[in-house]
Amino acid sequence: MDYPIKISPSILSADFGTLRHDALAAEKNGGCAIHIDIMDGHYVHNFSFGVNIVSALKRHVHIPIVTHLEIDNPDVFISDFARAESNMVVVQEDTCPHLPYTINAIKEMGVKAGIGINPDRGFEKLEANPEILREIDLLIIMAVYPGYGGQPFSPVTVPKIRRACAMREETQASFDIGVDGAVNSNTAPDIVRAGANYLIAGSSVFTDDIAASMKKLHTSAAAALAI
Ligand code: DX5
Ligand code: ZN
Repeated sequence: MDYPIKISPSILSADFGTLRHDALAAEKNGGCAIHIDIMDGHYVHNFSFGVNIVSALKRHVHIPIVTHLEIDNPDVFISDFARAESNMVVVQEDTCPHLPYTINAIKEMGVKAGIGINPDRGFEKLEANPEILREIDLLIIMAVYPGYGGQPFSPVTVPKIRRACAMREETQASFDIGVDGAVNSNTAPDIVRAGANYLIAGSSVFTDDIAASMKKLHTSAAAALAI
């Protein structure tokens, strides 16, 4: 089934003891890609997974795997995550001193590329390098600071989604516009109405009833589109 709004479950909030089961449940209920946050305890004050999680999950799930690098010096690790068969690698723009170089390095590995932007960061780097916008597949507006699931939704998110839509049009680019952090059935309608089409959700998906949670999120997103 094709959904108008893509929902990518972020396994940071899954039960790590039953990760395969949780990831497959999210896939079966309309997840477009498994989102894996890689945290280094330096860029963010938390650790999550290493590169092996990608190859391990790859053996079980059928939808693409998106690796979100919430680490310093992502350039050093791009090839590892590409070789582990990530379908997309997302870097945080504030970790990349030479963003065009980084995006190019990801694409050269034959992998899709994405960029994440923190709540306190603007689009200056993207505006200064508009050619990047035609290269990337996903722009993620972070609605929380990276590091943890279950944080509150930042109010800067909605105007930034609108700005991202305008920037995409101005540059004739075609990337998905995503939101990561605090995406749930309450925040999804405003996110979707502002123009985002790719929702990354952790704690609102990995509940005791993953099927029901995915359905609730899909329904709230689709309803917002219908208005
Ligand atoms: C935050 C991560 C998110 C996180 C979202 O560092 O990038 O992917 O899993 O979690 P929720 O949906 O609970 O805010
Ligand atoms: Zn993430």
